[in-house]
Amino acid sequence: MQTPLDTALSAFPKADLLQGPTPIQRASRLEQHLGLVERGIGLYLKRDDYMLIGGGGNKLRKLEFHLGAALAQGIDTIITVGGIQSNHARLTAAVCASLGIACELVLTRSVPKTEIEYELNGNVLLDQLFGAEMHVLDKGADALAMAEVRAEQLRKKGRKVLVIPTGGSTAAGSLGYARCAGEIVRQEALLGFAFTQVIVPNGSAGTHAGLAAGFECLGRGAETVKSYSVLSDQPASATRTLQLAQDTLALLGNKAELSAGAIHVDGSQLGEGYGVPTQAMVEAVRLMARCEGLLIDPVYSGKAFAGLVADLRQGRYRRGDNVLFIMTGGTPGLFAYREALTTA
Ligand SMILES: Cc1ncc(COP(=O)(O)O)c(C=O)c1O
Repeated sequence: MQTPLDTALSAFPKADLLQGPTPIQRASRLEQHLGLVERGIGLYLKRDDYMLIGGGGNKLRKLEFHLGAALAQGIDTIITVGGIQSNHARLTAAVCASLGIACELVLTRSVPKTEIEYELNGNVLLDQLFGAEMHVLDKGADALAMAEVRAEQLRKKGRKVLVIPTGGSTAAGSLGYARCAGEIVRQEALLGFAFTQVIVPNGSAGTHAGLAAGFECLGRGAETVKSYSVLSDQPASATRTLQLAQDTLALLGNKAELSAGAIHVDGSQLGEGYGVPTQAMVEAVRLMARCEGLLIDPVYSGKAFAGLVADLRQGRYRRGDNVLFIMTGGTPGLFAYREALTTA
């Protein structure tokens, strides 16, 4: 059945980068390990890491809308920005390769890590394989400004360039996760129950904001989503998420006014900062790998899953609750964090 959200979304051009809904699976071994079975709490995983292009991950949902707009405008070059090990940059490079569009990446050394694996392996290696041209800047440099300068240079040569900001997290990019909220609600109908809470990592906020806007449009409320911030502290992350969710709702033509209380961002897992490993992250990555044979990344999902595990252990969920953890991809990052994952 076509919902008002589907109708609103259909007004935006979209490139087809996904092959239908991503699967939802029950995490039975985790449920046993965490003592959830006797407490009557269900734990489910939505496999947004399970997509066919470029290794998959949450950024493909945002890129569907960015690339839809780009193709409609006849863009021939995309420039985007991120940290050295940006998953968004890697997926932008992969998508551009698949569509025959040139791609340039402006990457910043924003994480205090200098190991050769961090600089050259993981996403960086894949960026090169996908044929992207890379510009690497030191910490503190304004990557977006540099991207705009580069875009102007290319435009003067006759190229049609689109610059996509950090993480693809504009209101247009967040439409991808508003759409995902609709996908989840359809999957709930098949499962026969509604999730109590949907859990995501929060970096540039587009994933949380898009889901919040989508659930709000569907009458389920933005508070269905909870995120763990991995990039900024809690207040900054929550403020950005609220603004972006509100902008996404406005783009969808929805006049709802979200309250700050509807945006649940937890700041407990940030540790010493973006991309800096925590002991809880290492344990969470191992727990997922050893209980389910599945991979989560050290920068985003690893910290978010650590937060969820802590909440489950601390009794924050009740009998009858069903929790959905969105696996957002980013596994190439594991290869840039060998040291932290083997020594911690
Ligand atoms: C693997 C992964 N998960 C989660 C996120 C966070 O998504 P957002 O930036 O929309 O908050 C990112 C962002 O780069 C990511 O690469």
